[in-house]
Amino acid sequence: MTDLFASLRPEREEIREGVTLLPGFCDGQEILNIVKEIVAVAPFRHMQTPGGRRMSVAITNCGIVGWVSDHKGYRYSATDPERHRPWPEMPEELFALAQNAAEKSGFSGYHPDSCLINRYIPTASLSPHQDKDEHCFDWPIISVSLGLSAVFQLYGNKRGGRPLNIRLDDGDTLVFGGPSRLCYHGVRKLLPDGPEIMRDCRINLTFRRALP
Ligand code: SIN
Ligand code: FE2
Repeated sequence: MTDLFASLRPEREEIREGVTLLPGFCDGQEILNIVKEIVAVAPFRHMQTPGGRRMSVAITNCGIVGWVSDHKGYRYSATDPERHRPWPEMPEELFALAQNAAEKSGFSGYHPDSCLINRYIPTASLSPHQDKDEHCFDWPIISVSLGLSAVFQLYGNKRGGRPLNIRLDDGDTLVFGGPSRLCYHGVRKLLPDGPEIMRDCRINLTFRRALP
């Protein structure tokens, strides 16, 4: 049954200029196993926003630098502030996944140096924002979703307006770059659907080119 429907889904969906959805691009279970190894070294934690609020989404990172937030603001850091050590290296399989997704979406030669890993419990959400803490906007953001499905909201390059709602399921990969690199985006809510091995949360990996 599942296979029949999977075969009806397009392999690649051009959502708008610079935005491509690759449905079921990766094997969620395989990527989850790699994420577990990263989390065993650098556990998920709830960071503080610059305004002092606790983020509902728990995060960790791998790569040369990782995205961090505290009272001083949002930025990339080569050091995990909780462990006072470098972030775990980006596993080759993850690097290759991001590079292949970029290639399929028209961005060849992608070399991500950072991967932010977000964990959402069913009540968590992410308000609309731009990914603009990177020092380089020439390369796309590659977003890989695992576990529970979610409604991803894609806005334009200015705040406000009506979003395009995109359903992201386990293994779906969304690429946004080029003229859409600085689009506002958020996660409105989680849906009760997901693979048997992961029905309690959603994990999202975003690969970035953060350094110039
Ligand atoms: C993000 O914007 O950092 C994450 C997006 C998502 O969870 O799909
Ligand atoms: Fe983002």
